[in-house]
Amino acid sequence: MNVAASSLQDERALVFECDDVSVDFPHQGGTRQVLSGIGFELREGEFLSIVGTSGAGKTTLLRVLGGLLGPTSGAVRVRGKKIDGPPDDVVMVFQDYSRALLQWRTVTSNVALGIEDRMGKDECNQRVMEVLQLVGMEKYASYYPWQISGGMQQRVQIARALALQPAVMLMDEPFGALDAMTKSMLQDELLRVRDKIGASFVFITHDIDEAVYLSDRVAILTGTPGRIGQTMDVPLPRPRDQITTRADPRFLNLRHVIHEAVKEARHD
Ligand SMILES: Nc1ncnc2c1ncn2[C@@H]1O[C@H](COP(=O)(O)OP(=O)(O)OP(=O)(O)O)[C@@H](O)[C@H]1O
Ligand SMILES: [Mg+2]
Repeated sequence: MNVAASSLQDERALVFECDDVSVDFPHQGGTRQVLSGIGFELREGEFLSIVGTSGAGKTTLLRVLGGLLGPTSGAVRVRGKKIDGPPDDVVMVFQDYSRALLQWRTVTSNVALGIEDRMGKDECNQRVMEVLQLVGMEKYASYYPWQISGGMQQRVQIARALALQPAVMLMDEPFGALDAMTKSMLQDELLRVRDKIGASFVFITHDIDEAVYLSDRVAILTGTPGRIGQTMDVPLPRPRDQITTRADPRFLNLRHVIHEAVKEARHD
């Protein structure tokens, strides 16, 4: 079950690499290492989750992957090219949708935000409607963020990311603030969207069940400084289903193994 990429994964093009990334922050006149030697590869269409406890460095890692923070050492590459700032075809979806959306812009113009300067009005409108349909929000196009629920706001943030037609989507606990029912609906929508657009995903969460349910692989970020201790393949068939997938003995076994690994690392 551990690491070794399957032959299927090997045939897909390599889109994203995190190569031996470490991050130090200034601390009390010196420095403090928050991440150490983080490495993984992501192939086309692959869904990788990274699970870790609070403070393990998950958000810091995602900021490095998205080019918002330069690593102290190591490199992030998109299709073999080292990044130096946010790359065009890599987008981020944040946990805090209320701050990610502009409250004075409608749903439509929030989604258009990243693309309106790049294309003509008609093309932009068409693209916005397409992605709103993908996340089931087309009926709310003229609403303002404060007029829709939290789950709907998160759908809008995802639509905005999709409008950029990314090769890689980086998501930082995107469903962490939602209630359990909305969360499971959005998980299924995300999987549906993924099948349609074929992008690769790095999905950060502290919810082990969510990581297993969504992913092809789950990496465990633990320790101080944070390191990737183990990466597990998820051998569950797709399409996944909230009831049957979660009752599958392979699902139950994996969630058990990952819980144990996180628990052990906490006692190290
Ligand atoms: N800009 C910064 N300067 C100094 N220290 C920082 C900075 N950003 C994060 N840290 C520290 O790095 C560590 C990891 O923070 P990070 O936000 O990445 O954790 P996390 O795993 O996302 O936690 P959570 O699950 O609570 O969101 C923390 O100890 C935090 O205090
Ligand atoms: Mg975080």
